[in-house]
Amino acid sequence: MKSLIQLAEEEIKKYASIVESDPNRLRYHLMPPVGLMNDPNGLIYWRGEYHVFYQWMPFQTTHGAKFWGHYTSRDLIHWQTQVPALAPDEWFDRNGCYSGSAVDNDGVLTLFYTGNVKDDQGVRHTYQCMAISNDGLHFEKKGVVIHLPDGYTAHFRDPKVWKHENTWYMVIGAQSAQLDGKAVLFRSHDLVHWEHVGAIAGGENGNFGYMWECPDVFRLGGKDVLIVCPQGLQPEGMHYQNVYQAGYFVGQMNYETGQYAHGTFTELDRGFEFYAPQTMVDEYGRRIMIAWMGVPDQDEDKHPTIAYRWVHALTLPRELVLVGDKLYQRPIEQLQLLRSDEVHYPNVSLHKETMQFDGVKGKTVELLLKHIEGQGVLSIDIQNDVSFSYDFEKRVATLQRESFARQGEKEKRQCVLSNLRTLHIFIDTSSIEIFLNEGEEVFTARFFPHEKNEHIVFKTNGRAAFHLYKWKLC
Ligand code: FRU
Repeated sequence: MKSLIQLAEEEIKKYASIVESDPNRLRYHLMPPVGLMNDPNGLIYWRGEYHVFYQWMPFQTTHGAKFWGHYTSRDLIHWQTQVPALAPDEWFDRNGCYSGSAVDNDGVLTLFYTGNVKDDQGVRHTYQCMAISNDGLHFEKKGVVIHLPDGYTAHFRDPKVWKHENTWYMVIGAQSAQLDGKAVLFRSHDLVHWEHVGAIAGGENGNFGYMWECPDVFRLGGKDVLIVCPQGLQPEGMHYQNVYQAGYFVGQMNYETGQYAHGTFTELDRGFEFYAPQTMVDEYGRRIMIAWMGVPDQDEDKHPTIAYRWVHALTLPRELVLVGDKLYQRPIEQLQLLRSDEVHYPNVSLHKETMQFDGVKGKTVELLLKHIEGQGVLSIDIQNDVSFSYDFEKRVATLQRESFARQGEKEKRQCVLSNLRTLHIFIDTSSIEIFLNEGEEVFTARFFPHEKNEHIVFKTNGRAAFHLYKWKLC
């Protein structure tokens, strides 16, 4: 009998030519070779290579019994496809090897993930599991290391493990028996026996969502950051516009008591498609974050790529920097390796006009606007489908696109920003990532123009001045 991993590899071969023929296929982002991709998992720099695993459903473009797909890289830019790392083939993970993380345990690459099981009555069970590898490519499952503790429903998943002063810690995304979202801490001396410390953060009486997914805890700039994805927040003005959220708290963790004193929740991204971020430390000691360029249950079945047997992608790797209590996200420097065909327009000045610049167009483009000043509204229209604008009077940034789910509808996401100094935009065929003021805010989105074109159009109803740089990428 063929193994699930063999079947998944056959599926890749079977559909490779149709997947690759999709004009919306990205050029410099990680995508599934076939099927559905969601969360990045197990990010780690290990023995000179970066490993990015991901939630993967090879056999369909909807969610289901997930595998861990696997990519490796020496520079976070050029990637190799590796053999799928985990398949849902054991009693403790048969309905999915759900999200988790990786650590180096004395030279052994060690994965933690959630075994998702639905029993014959359709009741969910959850197990936190471990798998190990000596070569970083082939993994041996070691089975269950944590069973569901009292006080939580079976929505208990996504273990992120790290080491603090010779002790291992794990944070898990959870739903309490009272149906509040929580982040739950465990500790261990050997990665096998885990002590349940308790919830370090979470809602109370339904005030902050019914479930928290994909937590991550790390030290940055002398503070402890908790990233988490709450489900069940209601939209509030410009906030919480997506179906589910991804954001963070900043505070101090007391590892003795297991108490985490923290401030308020801040969203990580202001665009449409962003969820389940995970971080790792790179070879230079920087904190790098990669997220899923998608949101669960948010028009997932409407992506045009489904016609080509694949759906979703991961974001670019972004370096995190803490400025005060705000996380800034910067596209990693290595992305400059992809640049060619530089075009530079110093001292651009627009006055109540619409402009296109020679050489500033394309499908895979990096745009940089520096020293921006203006009055009224400055907007940049891309491929006649998605448009970014900034209102210098109202101090509001807006990303608008043609909905790919509801034809003829325009939809937008916004945030307040006290001034706009720089704009750094990465366009990759059907994805866009816009970094404002060196990553103070970021808008991430997919877009699918009806008519393929390469236009980038600048417009102002007032006045705008900036230095403009453009590179072709790839
Ligand atoms: C987040 C999530 C995780 C879960 C995984 C399943 O997108 O729902 O909580 O582990 O996806 O694929």
